[in-house]
Amino acid sequence: MKQKRWLLSCSLLMIGACVPKWEKIAPSITPAMVKKSGSSDATLQVGRATYIAHCGRCHEHQLPDSVSEADWHVVVPGMAWNASLSQTQEHAVRAYIIASQSRK
Ligand code: HEC
Repeated sequence: MKQKRWLLSCSLLMIGACVPKWEKIAPSITPAMVKKSGSSDATLQVGRATYIAHCGRCHEHQLPDSVSEADWHVVVPGMAWNASLSQTQEHAVRAYIIASQSRK
């Protein structure tokens, strides 16, 4: 019994640790990203916050570079539906993910 309680608090701690961790890992928005995306800094901030909060709920966060730009255009609408995002959040998260890709 004691061991079970320990396990439970441990997994709760791990869930709690996820968001602060991704605050650090998710690429920060730079002026170059804003320029490249053609979206505003505010839009990219919404996209980043949406990505951190929602895109690791069902699976590990998928890094922007793990999928090609062309594939993100296909994947994001489905994942936005999965996460019940608004159209504004969907647009912002796609702009953020693509702007923060390091290739190209
Ligand atoms: C409600 C659960 C859920 C949420 C929230 C969610 N996903 Fe997913 N995601 C899945 C499932 C299930 C799969 C695997 C099956 C599939 O591809 O549909 C998946 C697969 C993926 C893949 C791999 C797709 C491929 O074809 O290789 C990527 C990339 C991805 N998700 C990104 C995201 C992003 C970005 C977000 C935030 C907008 C997100 N997911 C939010 C459930 C979710």
